[in-house]
Amino acid sequence: MKQYKMTEKNNNRAHFATRIGAVATAAGSAVGLGNIWRFPYETGTHGGGAFIFLYIMFIMLIGVPVLCAEFIMGRQARANEIDTFRKLAPGQKWYLAGYLGLAASIMILSFYSVVAGWTMEYFYMSVTGALSVNADRLHEMFGCFVSDFWRPLLWTLIFLGLNLLVIIRGVQKGIERISNILMPMMLILLIVFCINSLLLPNAAEGLSFMFKPDFSKTDSSTLLSAMGQAFFSLSIGLGCMMTYGSYFSPTTRLGRCAATTALLDTAIAILAGVIIFPAVFSYGISPQAGPTLVFETLPAIFINMKGGYLWASAFFALLFLASITSTISMSEITIAYLTEKKNMSRKKACCVVIGTACVLASLCSLSFGPLSSATVCGLTVFNLFDYVASNLLLPIGGLIIAIFAGWRLDRRIVEKQMSNDGLHSVKLLKPLRFCLRYIAPAGILLILLNSIGII
Ligand code: TRP
Repeated sequence: MKQYKMTEKNNNRAHFATRIGAVATAAGSAVGLGNIWRFPYETGTHGGGAFIFLYIMFIMLIGVPVLCAEFIMGRQARANEIDTFRKLAPGQKWYLAGYLGLAASIMILSFYSVVAGWTMEYFYMSVTGALSVNADRLHEMFGCFVSDFWRPLLWTLIFLGLNLLVIIRGVQKGIERISNILMPMMLILLIVFCINSLLLPNAAEGLSFMFKPDFSKTDSSTLLSAMGQAFFSLSIGLGCMMTYGSYFSPTTRLGRCAATTALLDTAIAILAGVIIFPAVFSYGISPQAGPTLVFETLPAIFINMKGGYLWASAFFALLFLASITSTISMSEITIAYLTEKKNMSRKKACCVVIGTACVLASLCSLSFGPLSSATVCGLTVFNLFDYVASNLLLPIGGLIIAIFAGWRLDRRIVEKQMSNDGLHSVKLLKPLRFCLRYIAPAGILLILLNSIGII
């Protein structure tokens, strides 16, 4: 009876309807603030071309293999993250990695929502024309805004509320539909911006900064940041893509889906760079402005353009849309766990996840103002969450996934999932296994040791 119930439940499990849906949702998760906000500023602070070269290497050698591993495990087990480990390695402790993923996803969801909230404020200011001031004033405005009590907090909560509306409608209706509409829209907008930036007077200088690698300035921090960025940008390490993989249809080709996702993700990051750097050089702004690059510099650039605040509005709308598809994927890990493991209704699970995130995100938001002196080990709540989740939990999770898929998982399962039960021949199976067994674990261990300061 129990057995029967389980199968029945499995058959009724939500899944994505089409292959395009699978790619669009995976790419929707991968493309986000990580590409459009984090990638350009990391590239800027790490010297341009060399960073981009390394980033692409890491995407190919670690990112795509781990992404495949998550898809393989997810679709093989067709369960939430914790049951995935339990089913694939019964009676062993691997599933504990799942709890790590759940904790990390809520933490990332919390601080990510704060930055997404800022994009909403900036969208609002662009539309109302409040951004049409000079660069110094923009800098001041940003400082005032983030340290305020209510404004950033309210936007963060509104952002999480919108998330709730989307995820509550379910996997197919909510996530798939929104991804199918938003992804192509985003690409079109980015290409328009690119053309615009390429027509700026110092575009060539910006492009040579991005595409002429100067390895003389490359040090271990460049290497490790590039690897960290590859990880964060592909949404790997938390079981996020594992959960999405569990919704894939049996005909989805995992290798292709992983490659397309990585390609789109990288292309969008590079497009964002091509938008930003020509403009940065044309307006004499430092490419090393850091995390504030988007929020302080870009409005200044847009305002100097014809139809300025239309550009600014479109850009921040885009950033907001990219963020919401990413936060949906972060929420989905815990929702799948709560509905399947704790027998909660989807509605209730969504409320629990977003409710928890609201509390934690509020703390993150307030840590720029009223709570700025509440620190743990010298880090504010926002920085602590970012540090613990991105630098510690993400690499640990990725390491476990790579080792699990490379060493523990039966190679026949890998073959079966990659070839859709022998239906297609898979040429890159050997290199995939090699990356999962050796290259990814070694590489990730390096990031990990670096982030806790051992090397
Ligand atoms: N990859 C997304 C971005 O670039 C963020 C993201 C979504 C993420 N889901 C994740 C990062 C899971 C790490 C783990 O913005």
